[in-house]
Amino acid sequence: MQSNIEPSSQKELLDEVLQGSPTVIPGQPTHTRKLYLESYGCQMNFSDSEIVASILSEAGFTTTREEEEADLILLNTCAIRENAEQRVRARLRQFKQAKESRPHLVVGVLGCMAERLKESLLEQEKLVDMVVGPDAYRDIPNLVEQVNGGQKAVNVLLSREETYAEISPVRLDANGVTAFISIMRGCDNMCSFCVVPFTRGRERSRDPESIVREAHELFDAGYREVTLLGQNVDSYKWNIDNKGVVKDESQPVVRFAELIDRVAHVNPDMRVRFSTSHPKDMTDDVLEVMAKHENVCKYIHLPVQSGNSDVLKRMNRGYTREWYFNRIEAIHRIMPDCATSTDIIAGFCGETEEEHQDTLSLMELMRYDMAYMFAYSERPRTLAQRKFEDDVPQEVKSRRLHEIMAVQKVNAAERTKSYVGRTFRVLVEGTSKKKEDQYFGRTTYNTVVVFPKEDALPSTYVNVYVHDCTPVTLIGTITKNQPES
Ligand code: SAH
Ligand code: SF4
Ligand code: F3S
Repeated sequence: MQSNIEPSSQKELLDEVLQGSPTVIPGQPTHTRKLYLESYGCQMNFSDSEIVASILSEAGFTTTREEEEADLILLNTCAIRENAEQRVRARLRQFKQAKESRPHLVVGVLGCMAERLKESLLEQEKLVDMVVGPDAYRDIPNLVEQVNGGQKAVNVLLSREETYAEISPVRLDANGVTAFISIMRGCDNMCSFCVVPFTRGRERSRDPESIVREAHELFDAGYREVTLLGQNVDSYKWNIDNKGVVKDESQPVVRFAELIDRVAHVNPDMRVRFSTSHPKDMTDDVLEVMAKHENVCKYIHLPVQSGNSDVLKRMNRGYTREWYFNRIEAIHRIMPDCATSTDIIAGFCGETEEEHQDTLSLMELMRYDMAYMFAYSERPRTLAQRKFEDDVPQEVKSRRLHEIMAVQKVNAAERTKSYVGRTFRVLVEGTSKKKEDQYFGRTTYNTVVVFPKEDALPSTYVNVYVHDCTPVTLIGTITKNQPES
């Protein structure tokens, strides 16, 4: 996913999750119970929180931005790295204290950490009242009643079918311009470092008709950009005759390229993005569909993880350095102007200095617009934890991570600079955080642009001439000239 939003501060996180005013469900009495929901981790989790808010609104809850007035506090958690869990634990301890003065307050943990730790969060750690895994959100209203009845409640059953397909998410990020649509759940890949297959279960795709319907509804509600989400969108597949299950490849199947095509047809003014692509599965037909539609953004997040084929083998990623280059060449052949980004892990098990140098050289060659970079963090139950020793010392991981970040910083600044002097079609997302009289928006390449508002409106497109930049942001003015892209 455009992945792993790790907000640098609590404030930023709350802003991200609870932008806009609290959701008030029409027809509900004003004394309804209040839900305070905080999300961590990837976009998938943020998208799931919108499903949870929807399920709980049916049960009479309204969402609030004030944790002090909440009857129910839910943390939608991430387990991808040790520090993600530590942050959640610290937050749970705060809520545990709050419960001492508010005995009726119910606190629950959702998401990947709930799935990973299960009952132990209730029993050993005694931090919460309720633990709910990613496939059990429909059960939350019952579980809350169970807690109100004096019991602790847990449901961490994973499912092979659940996609929450027909649930209309309550849009918590109320910018009214951009939205996520979950197109699949789970992951079958078993990259050796990764906890996701254990926390999210088996891969399953969502009915394409429900996806297209959701995109139409968003367009009608004024949204102008959707991001299709999955851990590996390239393996999206839906058997038309068989409610999704693909048993026989000769039956009619909707694959990712066709899904993009269908969503792109919703309206030419609806931008389409997606995340995450997998280098081993990304086929040329996906790239061709991207090239065909102007409204499919020319930006691909293609996590490489390491620039060395032996490390990639230990990571069980299913491709080599050479294959990754082949995929990047295909992107540039089919869409010469496409921007790219990646994820990198520094200091994976057994990583030598030479192997690390291969990652640096790959980064130099790729010139990514953006990268998410992490130090390896061993996760319980993963293949790497069972098979390999986490033998790169912390200070070496840190130093390698900083070297990778230094290369990326230079590359990103150069990429940003290369857009100066050009005119872009920009979707206006809202008022700039720094300047009240300026808007911010994005180019097709996902680069943020700020510009004076003039008489433009959010959720519309403007042509912006870029005359300057900071290392990560473009600075421009609205122009009548036609955009190059
Ligand atoms: N499905 C996506 C990634 C999901 S997790 C993909 O396959 O690319 C997002 C990123 O977190 C990964 O790409 C990886 O770079 C990082 N990550 C996952 N497990 C990690 C671990 N144990 N330690 C450090 N980083 C990790
Ligand atoms: Fe994890 Fe690999 Fe699946 Fe991504 S593709 S979620 S890294 S197992
Ligand atoms: Fe996402 Fe974190 Fe789970 S990255 S899938 S919330 S482990």
